[in-house]
Amino acid sequence: MLLDAERAARLQQPPASPAPDPSAGVQSATVLQSTGLAKRFGADKPVFSDVSFAVRKGESVALLGANGAGKSTLLRCCLRLIEPDAGSIKLFGRELVGAPASALRELRARVGFVFQRHNLVPRLSALSNTIHGALGRSESARLWPPLLWSQALAPDGLRAEALACLARVGLADVASRRADRLSGGQSQRVTVARALMQQAEIVFADEPAASLDPAAGAEVMALFADLNRREKLTFVYTTHNLAHALEFSDRVVALRAGRIEIDAATHSLRAEDLKGLYG
Ligand SMILES: Nc1ncnc2c1ncn2[C@@H]1O[C@H](COP(=O)(O)OP(=O)(O)O)[C@@H](O)[C@H]1O
Ligand SMILES: [Mg+2]
Repeated sequence: MLLDAERAARLQQPPASPAPDPSAGVQSATVLQSTGLAKRFGADKPVFSDVSFAVRKGESVALLGANGAGKSTLLRCCLRLIEPDAGSIKLFGRELVGAPASALRELRARVGFVFQRHNLVPRLSALSNTIHGALGRSESARLWPPLLWSQALAPDGLRAEALACLARVGLADVASRRADRLSGGQSQRVTVARALMQQAEIVFADEPAASLDPAAGAEVMALFADLNRREKLTFVYTTHNLAHALEFSDRVVALRAGRIEIDAATHSLRAEDLKGLYG
C-alpha cells in the first residue's frame, strides 16, 4: 500500500539536514490545556482527579491506560461532551468550562472526532460522507444544508476538495463506493478524510484502531502518524495498545488509578516503562 511504501522510504532516508528554523527555541502554541480536571460518576470512586496536561500544536499524543482507566472519559471531558466536576480546559486558548453553548459550538467545530466505530452514513458514498465534514464550517452556514448531504448536490468546489481529502488518506479510488461496502479500515480512513474536510485543527480519536483487525488498525495509526508528520496536524488519541503508542505517537500521557502516571516524550520510553500501567 502506498502509505506503507512511503513510510518505508522515509525510514530508509537519512534525516533531512536541519534547515535553519525561524521558530527555533520558540515552543509551538498550546492548543489544549487541561488543569486540575476531575470526574466521578455518581457515588462511584472518582475516575480521575487533578489531571493536568497540555498538547502543543503539531504534536501527536497517545492517551494510554488499561481498560477502565478513564481515557475515554478524559477525552470527552476535554470537549465537555462529558461535564467535568472540577478543573479547567483551555482549547485554542479559550476556557471551555462554563463557556456558553455558542462558544462551545464554535470551538468544537475546530476539532475533528474519530470514534472507535466509524459513524458514517452507510448508504451514502465515501465522497458524500467526506463532504459532510464541511457541515460544521462557518462558511457552510450560507449554504442550504441539503446541498452538503450528497456529493451529487454539493457545489463543485466542495466536491473537488472532498476528493482531495480522500486522496490524502489514500482512498481516492473508492470515492464513489457506498460506505457499507468499505472495509473497516477504509471506513475509519473516511472518518479521517471527513475531519480533514472539516478543516479540523486538532483531531481527537477514541480507540480508533480497537474495532479493526490488527493490520487495518496499524494502518489507521500509521495514517495518523503520517498526517501528523506531513501536514503537522495535531492528534490526541486514546489507546490501550502499548505498541501503537510507542510506534505512532510523539508523546505518551498515561492514566493509572485516576492520575497521570506518565507524561513523557515517546522516544524516552521503552515498553517496560509502560507495563506497570496494566498492573
Ligand atoms: N456514563 C458513565 N456512567 C457511569 N460510569 C461510567 C460512565 N462512563 C464511564 N464510566 C466508568 O468510568 C471508568 C472509566 O471509563 P472509561 O473512561 O470508559 O475508561 P477507558 O476509556 O480507559 O476504558 C470506568 O470504571 C467506567 O465504568
Ligand atoms: Mg475507552
